[in-house]
Amino acid sequence: MLTDKYVPNTINNIIGNSEAISKLFEFAQAVHANAKPRPIMIFGPTGTGKTSAAHALAYGNGFELLELNASDYRDVTTLEKVLLPASRSKGLFNKNILILLDEIDELSKKLDAGAEKIIRELIKSSKQPVIFTATDFWDKDINYLRMSVDKVEFKKVPPKEIEKLLDKIITEEKVSVKKEVIEEIARRSDGDVRGAINDLEAMIGAKDELLENLGMRDRKTEIFGVLDKIFLSGNFDMARNSMTKSDVDIGMLINWIDENITKRYPMKKDVEEAYSNLSLASRFYEKASRTNHYEYFRYASVFASSGIALSNKGRTTMLKQYSFPSNIRYMSSTKGDRINLNSIAERLSPILHTNKKKIIGSYLPILKIAIENSIKKYGKEETLNTVAFSMGIFEDDVEILLGKKL
Ligand SMILES: Nc1ncnc2c1ncn2[C@@H]1O[C@H](COP(=O)(O)OP(=O)(O)OP(=O)(O)O)[C@@H](O)[C@H]1O
Ligand SMILES: [Mg+2]
Repeated sequence: MLTDKYVPNTINNIIGNSEAISKLFEFAQAVHANAKPRPIMIFGPTGTGKTSAAHALAYGNGFELLELNASDYRDVTTLEKVLLPASRSKGLFNKNILILLDEIDELSKKLDAGAEKIIRELIKSSKQPVIFTATDFWDKDINYLRMSVDKVEFKKVPPKEIEKLLDKIITEEKVSVKKEVIEEIARRSDGDVRGAINDLEAMIGAKDELLENLGMRDRKTEIFGVLDKIFLSGNFDMARNSMTKSDVDIGMLINWIDENITKRYPMKKDVEEAYSNLSLASRFYEKASRTNHYEYFRYASVFASSGIALSNKGRTTMLKQYSFPSNIRYMSSTKGDRINLNSIAERLSPILHTNKKKIIGSYLPILKIAIENSIKKYGKEETLNTVAFSMGIFEDDVEILLGKKL
């Protein structure tokens, strides 16, 4: 994959986030000066270079690297037998050992009290530098260590910088991709460099129309943004605008709202009113679909967005994550998709050394495109043999991934 080929192996090759990078330099200086700096927590959105930065820091400073992430974690004894002894020793030839606990927010979800205690112990007594990474600094699962680390924030990388990197990659790869396509990929990336490089890879040699298919990664986050505005703004215009500006289909939105009203509105009255507005939205939507009268869609859209927003008179709660509409989960022809994507991701997790969430969000979309291209080029049999052999992905998995029968 291009993301592996172009992994930034020195800190200077990391694009964006110069402030964070200089903090990392200072951290390394302190380690060299034997000043025993406090552990740092690199946090920020996915695909911005957090893990790569930690790797590059180790490499560039001659530190050995001891890394653990959620998919490596087995049990408390791994921590006890590996982490603590390493943190107290010197590495080979007296080198420093950089201890990297990658994706500590994910990892912490798996830890029991015993394991947490070991991590606390590590922070307190490590003679070696320690770096944590996380996507969400405020995740409640890492409450236990927030006070003991120095923050290094990675932000979304600006599209201009991503564009430059993509240009550099196509020059080195000696391929041509239209300027507009590069710009569009960078624009849509939402600051996710990994996502942008993966999209570029999918677009190399592909038809421009394929750009339309690359949205898969964005769609879920897009719907969450719209749902937030609808449930939390309490504001007519904000809710309606977020809906009309997005590409979210009204029918789909109605399903999502239906599934999630009670996850955001704790008051019975609000739930009642929201459902009554949603039922109006749904009736207008059906009528519009049946009769092709466009104006009905407009009413459906207003009831589904502003109607829900104004139903909330009391409190909102953020305690639960949005869940996927169950009627789609159970009734559509792609029934069981999520469960099966999950199982594909689970099998790929040890191969790709990353967690399921990331595999579903970042890797499966590109795998889908790669498989489609491969079937066109080499045929079904050869493609299936290759993916089965190299990744343990079989015909029915491929059907789930492509959303159709082969
Ligand atoms: N700032 C960056 N500069 C250059 N390449 C980057 C940058 N960020 C990400 N990449 C590319 O994306 C890939 C993934 O980046 P990395 O694993 O460091 O992201 P991350 O922030 O750790 O993401 P996650 O939160 O999902 O773990 C890298 O191998 C590299 O190809
Ligand atoms: Mg990472």
